[in-house]
Amino acid sequence: MPSYTNTFVSKLPEVPTSIFSVMSTLAIKHNALNLSQGFPNFESDSKLIEAVNKAMNDGKNQYAPMPGIFSLRDAIAAKMENLYGVSYNPETEITITAGATQAIFTAIAATIKKDDEVIIFKPAYDSYEPTIQLFGGKTIAVQLNPEDFKIDWKLVKGLISDKTKMIIINTPHNPSGRILTKQDMLQLETLLKNTNIILLSDEVYEHIIFDGEQHQSAALFPALAERAFITASFGKTFHNTGWKVGYCLAPKELMDEFRKVHQFNVFSVNHPTQVALAEHLKTPNNYLELNSFYQQKRDLFLSLIKDSKFEFIPSKGTYFQLLNFKNITDESDYDFAVRLTQEQKIAAIPISVFNQHKLDTKVLRFCFAKTDETLKQAASILNSI
Ligand SMILES: Cc1ncc(COP(=O)(O)O)c(C=O)c1O
Repeated sequence: MPSYTNTFVSKLPEVPTSIFSVMSTLAIKHNALNLSQGFPNFESDSKLIEAVNKAMNDGKNQYAPMPGIFSLRDAIAAKMENLYGVSYNPETEITITAGATQAIFTAIAATIKKDDEVIIFKPAYDSYEPTIQLFGGKTIAVQLNPEDFKIDWKLVKGLISDKTKMIIINTPHNPSGRILTKQDMLQLETLLKNTNIILLSDEVYEHIIFDGEQHQSAALFPALAERAFITASFGKTFHNTGWKVGYCLAPKELMDEFRKVHQFNVFSVNHPTQVALAEHLKTPNNYLELNSFYQQKRDLFLSLIKDSKFEFIPSKGTYFQLLNFKNITDESDYDFAVRLTQEQKIAAIPISVFNQHKLDTKVLRFCFAKTDETLKQAASILNSI
């Protein structure tokens, strides 16, 4: 092939292959149990799969409307009303997206300009920072204390300036499994009142929250909701991450801008899955039962490894559990994760990759969205280390 004269400068020069691809590829190569990437190894409800088939057989195979089919947006509005007593107008304030990642991308693309500052909390989901960078924004990263992952709101206040355009929060939090409390949200509300700062509230694990705690959605706090893009993922809620369907909620003024971008990067989202999801959402138990479903998995996993050398604080939400291995080895978390995969046949994610300056706190993230059988096999490996 003739060589292309490269005058092209990468827009994301420092972005490596995602750790999820790295660990999953290594897990396949070494035939290891894969507790690294965040997806279930069990099936979505068969009724939901049948409903997608039916929608395809019924001819729902052409473009869906740009913001998503109305019945799905309407079902989401009803869910928000039921759970939080807040009303989002399905016509103007809800858009169906190709997963939450696209919703996050589009919200940032629609609002962040060159030199705008965006405050994020690390460890953070890996799409935030490169997306901010793509649109010329500057990430202001706050490293959370690795012991408790609590946000120091006084410190955040000190970082806010005229350039601050957005703050991104994530609750329940991947990878720590920590949740933001009502007190956290009230402090954030006080900080943002009387500013023009936009909030991006990543709530993809909204329905995976344990020990009787309540999810504190940004929608519940008026001075947050009025400026918030809230992003959500059906993949996480209904065990079908591969369908890549999610949604975004925002007040009309913000949603108008969101849709201007949305119509040019995806235009519209997979139609038959939307038809099926609209029907499935009408039964609240389909999402309300998720808390106890995953709490049982967390409890099973933790009870099985309670005598291992790993240390842990039980996850409060999400389907991730952090395990500290400082009693086992001085290796870096990355090296230990690779060795575990190669030699012990179990894959996890080293959380330094999500931290500021790759801070290594000797912690690995394990996904417990797995069958009980897989969790038992995983525990028996971890107990033998
Ligand atoms: C915190 C967080 N936000 C967003 C996403 C993306 O969700 P989706 O698969 O719907 O794009 C994930 C998925 O792992 C996540 O953990």
